[in-house]
Amino acid sequence: MTPVSLVTGGNRGIGFAIAEGLLKLGHKVLVAGRNEDEAERACQLLNGDAHPVVMDLASQDAIEDAITRATAIYSDIDILINNAGVMDKGAVTELAAEDWQRSFDVHVKGPATLTRLLLPAMLKNNYGRIINVSSGYGSYNEKMAGPPAYAVTKAALNALTVKTAAEVPVGANVKVNAMCPGWVHSRMGGPGAPLTPEEGADTALWLASLDSDSPNGMFFRQRKPIRW
Ligand SMILES: NC(=O)c1ccc[n+]([C@@H]2O[C@H](COP(=O)([O-])OP(=O)(O)OC[C@H]3O[C@@H](n4cnc5c(N)ncnc54)[C@H](OP(=O)(O)O)[C@@H]3O)[C@@H](O)[C@H]2O)c1
Repeated sequence: MTPVSLVTGGNRGIGFAIAEGLLKLGHKVLVAGRNEDEAERACQLLNGDAHPVVMDLASQDAIEDAITRATAIYSDIDILINNAGVMDKGAVTELAAEDWQRSFDVHVKGPATLTRLLLPAMLKNNYGRIINVSSGYGSYNEKMAGPPAYAVTKAALNALTVKTAAEVPVGANVKVNAMCPGWVHSRMGGPGAPLTPEEGADTALWLASLDSDSPNGMFFRQRKPIRW
């Protein structure tokens, strides 16, 4: 059976590189983007078994509608890559409520909704991978070095990873992990970043292709465990 993968923010940057890598692994790839034209353009560029799915992670209804439609057309989604991200740069004393809301929607509420919708079928089928694209900027161990809205919500995504992994029965072939791509040349990472999107995608692709005897509930960078 061809695995079906869904990548949020798959239209550009690291998400696009993850989608490209999953296609090379032989997956059917659902490229989720909030803009229909962008998602379609990405699928044309990918030029394989890639299909656009339109969802703005700020909208619960949009997520639910998109998943209902996608699972009806493409069947159960085996691999969820929660990759979409935003970086609000203000200090705590400057951030407006809507800035916090935007970061929370994209990094926490959207991934949690997708997990709620997709994890039950993964457990039923005894096959699934959820990979949360986080950041060292949200790591307590790395002193939460990112801007506040980004760091706090990536730390929350890490916490969501731990709590979701804990709902997977021991021994199930369903794994939920977080990863940090490193500092990557993308719209978010900027032109001075040392890593290509393909290099940033590597650990997510590695996690997506590990067998049943693989970790659950851990945080990785460059294929190595890192501390929360
Ligand atoms: N680049 C780095 O150095 C770095 C380092 C550590 C972690 N990360 C993480 O890696 C992931 C990918 O980052 P990137 O560097 O590839 O960033 P990017 O090029 O800025 O891409 C961000 C993606 O997220 C999507 N997105 C933003 N808001 C959304 C929303 N409301 N609904 C749906 N999609 C939304 C964007 O869609 P649009 O095209 O429509 O805006 C875009 O596809 C992020 O989670 C980021 O935090 C990146």
